[in-house]
Amino acid sequence: MTDQVQEIRSKALQELEALGDPQALEGWRISYLGRKGSLTRLLRGVSSLPQEERRLAGSAANNAKRDLESALARREEDFKQQALSRKLGESIDVTLPGHRVPLGRLHPITQMLREICQAFAQMGFQVVEGPEVEWDYYNFEALNIPQGHPARDMWDTLWIDYETEDGRHPMLLRTHTSPMQIRVMENNRPPIRVVVPGRVYRYEATDATHESMFFQVEGLAVDQGITFADLKGTLYQFARLLFGPDRKVRFRCDYFPFVEPGVDMSIDCFLCRGRGCRICGETGWIEIMGAGMVHPKVLENVDYDPSVYTGFAFGLGPERIAMLKYGIDDIRLFYANDIRFLRQF
Ligand code: DAH
Repeated sequence: MTDQVQEIRSKALQELEALGDPQALEGWRISYLGRKGSLTRLLRGVSSLPQEERRLAGSAANNAKRDLESALARREEDFKQQALSRKLGESIDVTLPGHRVPLGRLHPITQMLREICQAFAQMGFQVVEGPEVEWDYYNFEALNIPQGHPARDMWDTLWIDYETEDGRHPMLLRTHTSPMQIRVMENNRPPIRVVVPGRVYRYEATDATHESMFFQVEGLAVDQGITFADLKGTLYQFARLLFGPDRKVRFRCDYFPFVEPGVDMSIDCFLCRGRGCRICGETGWIEIMGAGMVHPKVLENVDYDPSVYTGFAFGLGPERIAMLKYGIDDIRLFYANDIRFLRQF
């Protein structure tokens, strides 16, 4: 009987390999492994054999059954793979144009921030960031803008709805990046050279030149012996890096409570080269930032001795600089998420 088993086994395997399509598999299975299949019938006959032969024939038949079953499974898998690769082959038409991969890019203000920070990094400034929800102390108090001082009116503030027991609201959305001057000085000793890019918030009606959320880049350098000449040299170099090597700069007195003296810095108009045009409002000059020598009171507020240390600070608006550079006439375009605008950069 073992011979019979072997015969059926090899015949079955041979036939299986020769089958040309998956529909034929079921017929094959029925004729060998089905209820009335030839191997099944043999297996059934095992019980009527004499004891000795029964054991041998039984295990041979069972082995053969297992072999046929796994061969069947393998063939099924073969047919499945064949069908799949045929389908793939059909759907690839190499003459069709490829799918367009939508390429993202950095937001124009992100690009601007990086360009600004890089210019200062070249001059040894570190880039740090700080919290957008800030304490009154850092945003105003420590920057020499006490409670009730009229200078507070320079910033229309969004206060956070958090009230202390004595009814004060000491928390706000920072109105400028200047509070980071204090945080940096509190946590470091001179020499300090940092730039701070970040979002700031104002309680402001929006128009072509105002947004309630926008960016600033703050700068601070503190050490022994820093003078106004360092401020001028550094900011002059910055203007030339960003707006071209033949830029001229102009400093005029301005008031900011945390610097003394305070200035605003202008560059000569890069469009009309100082003759006067639409961009510069016919003046030939474009204001690009506020700056000044760090006020002695501010140094005292962080326990720096103003007779030992001096420094300069500056603050600028990347949106304004991007608007000037690219001739954009409405700041709101930056935050309207209109892809037609954004993809130009
Ligand atoms: N924080 C000022 C503002 O938001 C800008 C500024 C002016 C920053 C002068 C400075 C500075 O560091 O020295 O209007």
